[in-house]
Amino acid sequence: MKTIKKHKSSNLYILAIESSCDDTSCAILENKKVLSNVAATQLIHNKYGGVVPELASRDHEKNITKVVNEALQLAQVPLCNINLLAVTQGPGLMGSLLVGCSFAKSLSIALNIPIVTINHMRAHVMAHLIESDAQKTPPFPFLCLTVSGGHTQIIKVNSPYNFELLGQTIDDAVGEAFDKGAKILGLPYPGGPEIDRLAKNGNTKKYKFSISNLNNLDFSFSGIKTSLLYFIQKQQAIDCNFITNNLNDLCASFQENLLEQLLLKIEQVVKTQNIKHVAIAGGVSANSRLRILLSDFGKKNNVEVYLPKFEYCTDNAAMIGICAYFDALTQNYANLNFAPKARFELF
Ligand code: KG4
Ligand code: ZN
Repeated sequence: MKTIKKHKSSNLYILAIESSCDDTSCAILENKKVLSNVAATQLIHNKYGGVVPELASRDHEKNITKVVNEALQLAQVPLCNINLLAVTQGPGLMGSLLVGCSFAKSLSIALNIPIVTINHMRAHVMAHLIESDAQKTPPFPFLCLTVSGGHTQIIKVNSPYNFELLGQTIDDAVGEAFDKGAKILGLPYPGGPEIDRLAKNGNTKKYKFSISNLNNLDFSFSGIKTSLLYFIQKQQAIDCNFITNNLNDLCASFQENLLEQLLLKIEQVVKTQNIKHVAIAGGVSANSRLRILLSDFGKKNNVEVYLPKFEYCTDNAAMIGICAYFDALTQNYANLNFAPKARFELF
C-alpha cells in the first residue's frame, strides 16, 4: 500500500498513539506543544504480579476509542483538523502493539493523512524535546539515561536523529530489578513505585546487596535480586516477621544499591567525555530518590540535569507525538504495509 505524503497545513496537528505495554495512551500536539495527553493504565495486571499479554491487548481494544476521543476533546481539536498520525511500532508486546498500529492505520486511510512509526525507546528520550513552560529543553549533545521496565541504556543524543549507545544492561533492566525485588518483599506489581514510597522512611545504609560492577559502561542487575532473595531466606529462618519488621529499611537499601550503580556510570561518562547536560527518561526516572541523587550530582559537578515531568516518565503518547514532529520535518512517513515489531533495536 502506498505512503501518504502530504499533510494539509503548515502547522502540524499530531494525533499520537502508544499501546506497547499496559498503558493505552493518546496525545494531541500542535507542533512541539502538547495540547492533551491521556492514558488509561490497566489495573487488571496487578493481581497477577506482572503484565499478562493477552489481557493487555484485550484492554487496549476496549480503551482505545475512548482514550482517543478524550484526547481530542481535551485538546479541543476536531478530528478533521488532524494532519499527521504517529504510533509506536515497537518494541513491546505484539498483541498490544497491533491494537495501536491497526487503529492508527485505519485513521490514516479514513483521513487521508500520513503516518509516522516510532521506536518506543527513542520516544522516552525525545520527551525532553517537548516544548513547555514548565520544562527546559536540553541542548545537543546531551546524555540520557533511559531506565524502564525493559531497558537500561546510556545514550549520547547528538540530534533528534542521531543517538549513540554508550552502555546498556547485559541482563535485567533496572525497572525489572525494582519489580522483582518488590515481589520478593511481597509488594504488589509494579514494585518500583512501592519501593520508592516505602524507602522514604527507611535507612539506605542498613543492608548491602551485592551488585555486579562491570568495567565498561554496561550494567548487570540480575545478581542483586538473588542477593536479596538469599538474604531474606536466611533472615526469615531466624525471624519469620523479618520482612514486615524491616520493610522500609530493606526497600531503602535495595533501592540505594540499584541507584548507586546508575550514578556511578553517569559519573564515568561525564568525567571522560566532558558532558555538561544529563537527562533521565523512562518509568524509573519517576523515582524520587534517583531525582534527588542526580540533582545533587549535577550541582557538585557543574552539570545541568533534566528531569522529565512525571506524566512523561512512564509510557505516554506525548513522547510518540514529539518524535513524529521531528520525523515529519524529514518526511520520514511510513508505508501503510508496516507491521509492529516486538523487538525493535534503536541501534
Ligand atoms: O517506561 P515504563 O512505564 O514502561 C516500560 O517501557 O517498561 O517503565 C515501567 C517501569 C516499571 O518497572 C516500574 O516499576 C518502574 O518503571 N517505575 C519505577 C517508579 N515508577 C515506575 N521504579 C522506581 N521508582 C518509581 N517511582
Ligand atoms: Zn516505556
